[in-house]
Amino acid sequence: MKKLLALLLAAVMTMSLLTACGSSETTADAGNEETQAEAGSEEADAGNEEAQADAEANAEEAADAASAETAALSDGVLTVGTNAEFPPFEYVDDNGEPDGFDIALIKAIGEKLGVEVEVENMEFASLVSSIGSKIDVAIAGMTVTEERQQSVDFSDAYYEAVQYVILPADSEIATAQDLEGKTIGVQLGTTGDFIATDDIADTTVSQYNKGVDAVNDLINGRVDCVIIDKNPALVFASKFEGQLIALDGAQFDFSTEEYAIAMPKGDADLAEQINAALAEIKADGTFDELVKTYIEAE
Ligand code: ARG
Repeated sequence: MKKLLALLLAAVMTMSLLTACGSSETTADAGNEETQAEAGSEEADAGNEEAQADAEANAEEAADAASAETAALSDGVLTVGTNAEFPPFEYVDDNGEPDGFDIALIKAIGEKLGVEVEVENMEFASLVSSIGSKIDVAIAGMTVTEERQQSVDFSDAYYEAVQYVILPADSEIATAQDLEGKTIGVQLGTTGDFIATDDIADTTVSQYNKGVDAVNDLINGRVDCVIIDKNPALVFASKFEGQLIALDGAQFDFSTEEYAIAMPKGDADLAEQINAALAEIKADGTFDELVKTYIEAE
């Protein structure tokens, strides 16, 4: 019986090897799962011992090289989610590729860590729940909030922000009180959305998948104002100079926010590596260069 199992196992392993030759990630994973499912035979145990010895050797190497140990980096690719509707932090460039401050920053981090960075453009509201499955981490001008911290960890903060209020140039809205009862446009699932929905009395909140669509509806008179982060607010308002103005949220008692990279909860190794890379990028002047190129050039 055992022999039969062993034979079967060998057959399965050969098959997975053959299919894995296409070397697509999913095929290789499926192969691993099959092998695991067959575990329990002596052969599998022997395999485990070998694997353990291998792992120990690897750990030693990794300690020396301080190289990727976390699952998120072990395949040499850091898959990064963003929502490229948020200039100057992320937008789609003329070639249809995500670009912007955040994209350049995460690529610089990837370079320090010796991994390739692959950017997945998705809806902002799906980012947090996709971490650990579709994506390894998210960089999206994402504000550190307690609620998000229930499901993800954040890197050290890299940028300070505040919500701004975009208004028609002739609007009389000027204080927090003036916002009460108004129809407010926001990007769905953002801190601007939370402020408009939870903190201001009697509002009607129009939630859009893209901030720019909220701004278009402001132009069309469908909303009274748009609440969105400072730098995107300045970019969007400048596209309609003379028609729109962007006011500092401090004027409306909005508190400051901090952007950070969202990471899988509890992956201390990944956090340590990302924070170390970020610190290096700040220390060696790369960070300031990126601010100049992407943010101050706006
Ligand atoms: N800072 C805000 C938040 O975290 C908005 C971020 C929107 N980012 C984007 N890439 N669309 O909720």
